[in-house]
Formats: sequence, C-alpha cells, structure tokens
Amino acid sequence: MKLSEVKIIDLPKVPDPRGNLSFIEEEQQVPFKIERVYWIYDVPGGQVRGGHAFIIQQELIVALSGSFNVMIDDGGKREVFQLNRSYYGLYIPAGLWRRMENFSTNSLAVVLSSTKYDESDYIREYQSFLNYKNGKK
Ligand code: TYD
Repeated sequence: MKLSEVKIIDLPKVPDPRGNLSFIEEEQQVPFKIERVYWIYDVPGGQVRGGHAFIIQQELIVALSGSFNVMIDDGGKREVFQLNRSYYGLYIPAGLWRRMENFSTNSLAVVLSSTKYDESDYIREYQSFLNYKNGKK
C-alpha cells in the first residue's frame, strides 16, 4: 500500500448547543468491518507508541481528546498527520509503517481495527518492513 491511500476521513458532526456529537458506522465512515476497538491514554510526555506495520490490519485512528501526530512511512516516503479534532479519522490501509508521537496532556487515541489482535500480523523491525515492501513490489 502507498502513502497516497492514507486519508483523513471527515466524520459526521451533529452540532448542538448541548454539546456536539459524532459517530462511526462500520463500512460507512470506515471502509472495513470493525473487529476491535482499542485506545491509548495516559501517555507520558515524550513517549512514542506504535512503531510498527501490519500485514493485513487496516485501521482508523481518532483523537477523541487532545492531539498527537501519526507518522506514516510506505518504505519510500513519509508523511506526518496531526490529529487534533474528534471528528477527523485517519484511515491507514495495511502494509504501512506507522508511529504515534507528540501526545498532548490528557490525549485519548481510539483505534478501530479491521482484525482481532494478532501478534503475527505485526512487523516490528523497520528493516523487516523494508524487506517486506521490497519483496512485495
Ligand atoms: P502494541 O500494539 O504493540 O502497542 P504499540 O504499538 O503502541 O507499541 O500493543 C502493546 C501490547 O498490548 C501488546 O504487546 C499486546 C497488547 N495488546 C492487546 O492485548 N490487544 C490489543 O488489541 C492491542 C492493540 C495490544
């Protein structure tokens, strides 16, 4: 997969003086069936999460609170996406290296995943990722 397939999805936003509301429905706002939801929170300043790639897992990341950056690398190019609104979802297809960093205080990252947790779907070494991409091209 290429960097150009990563995209920010504008989630529905229902503005209301009582407080705004946004939502995600599987195969609507996310182009996959949602098999799992996990979230990352209480991140100490300066910490980095998620330095790895997935072979088949696709995901959508939302900054439900606060902000953080997601760096995506397709083995050739890199791009940093800043997530800072609870109505933006970052869609990441499989086969891309990604790292989450610059978490603000009290940030909350929710990740919708197309698969159940499966350690064998991870590529955790950057060099292995490059080998994987080169073998696949
Ligand atoms: P991991 O995805 O490696 O976190 P990060 O990408 O930020 O380094 O997950 C850390 C640990 O949490 C992992 O070793 C196993 C566990 N885990 C689960 O049990 N289920 C899950 O859905 C996830 C995402 C992680």
